[in-house]
Amino acid sequence: MVKVTVCGAAGGIGQPLSLLLKLNPQVTELALFDIVNAKGVAADLSHINTPAVVTGYQPANKEDKTAVVESLRGTDLVIIPAGVPRKPGMTRADLFNINASIIRDLVANIGRTAPNAAILIISNPVNSTVPIAAEVLKKLGVFNPKKLFGVTTLDSVRAETFLADLLNVSPGSLQGRISVIGGHSGDTIVPLINASPEVARKVSNLTTDQYNKFINRVQYGGDEVVKAKNGAGSATLSMAYAGYRFAENVLASLAGKESTAAIPDSSYIYLPGIPGGKELSTKYLKGVDFFSVPVVLEQGQIKSFINPFEILKVTEGETKLVQVALEGLAKSIDQGTAFVTASK
Ligand code: NAI
Repeated sequence: MVKVTVCGAAGGIGQPLSLLLKLNPQVTELALFDIVNAKGVAADLSHINTPAVVTGYQPANKEDKTAVVESLRGTDLVIIPAGVPRKPGMTRADLFNINASIIRDLVANIGRTAPNAAILIISNPVNSTVPIAAEVLKKLGVFNPKKLFGVTTLDSVRAETFLADLLNVSPGSLQGRISVIGGHSGDTIVPLINASPEVARKVSNLTTDQYNKFINRVQYGGDEVVKAKNGAGSATLSMAYAGYRFAENVLASLAGKESTAAIPDSSYIYLPGIPGGKELSTKYLKGVDFFSVPVVLEQGQIKSFINPFEILKVTEGETKLVQVALEGLAKSIDQGTAFVTASK
């Protein structure tokens, strides 16, 4: 019996993500919350002949809090793609003003109604929205760092696709064999292409120019979609796939299954809350506490992480990328934390 709640379920990501969740036989209840059209999306999905019972929740007016609370009651996993996406010319940081309060308020409701649920945050800027969520949960006294995940899987999905293209191998063959660490925005995204020995051998044939273009494309791949959609939003379908891939990992761990990937998917997490995390932050990350690393899951939570610097053969060039990433991350984390401190 697994209940999953999607907050922002009627949006560009929310709808296809909810569709994929409806197809997962492990999900017995799928609660869709949105401020618009959640009931319509739920009615539509409910006709699909899979076990999950789908229900839609949308508030009657701005003051109505019962819909969100009902959608969260007894839930095991909450996935949040609620908020505004980018338009051409915008960075993810430009979304902060609107999305920060949406995440703060949704996570406060999760903390009060379903404090034991695993929370997957998709809403941007992830580098700040995850620290916001952590701070809100801390204030409520229910923060479990093992269950708070910033979803950065799309960066891995892009890295696998773009590198496969360069190496002329099937993209699927790279899943679990390259790793993306850092944050989820521009130069905070750090792909590690030598993470596994087989890939390292193939990658050694790339020219410096090919390598640099690859790194840049993973860091700024989101812009290609924003530009092509020309004002109609950012990545939604590839993001729904990526969000589902990570959610599927969490669901599998809830069912007691162990991951078979050589390198598990990364997630942007609060390191000091995980064994060995404070040491990683102090020794390699100049004290930056939120960072995306490969995570090993157990029972719907983080059991451990893979220390990239000790296990994944981070090159000198990649170490320099990490140093750049840390600067951006430190600012985004402070911005998120300060926002909650300043909130009543
Ligand atoms: P969208 O505008 O199509 O959908 C957002 C949905 O959130 C809408 O249905 C809206 O009604 C709903 N919403 C707004 N305020 C809400 C609230 N308080 N409670 C519940 N629902 C609320 O946007 P889209 O394209 O689905 O993107 C959603 C978010 O995901 C954006 O912040 C975007 O930047 C982010 N994103 C994250 C990625 C990642 O890799 N983590 C990749 C792509 C997008």
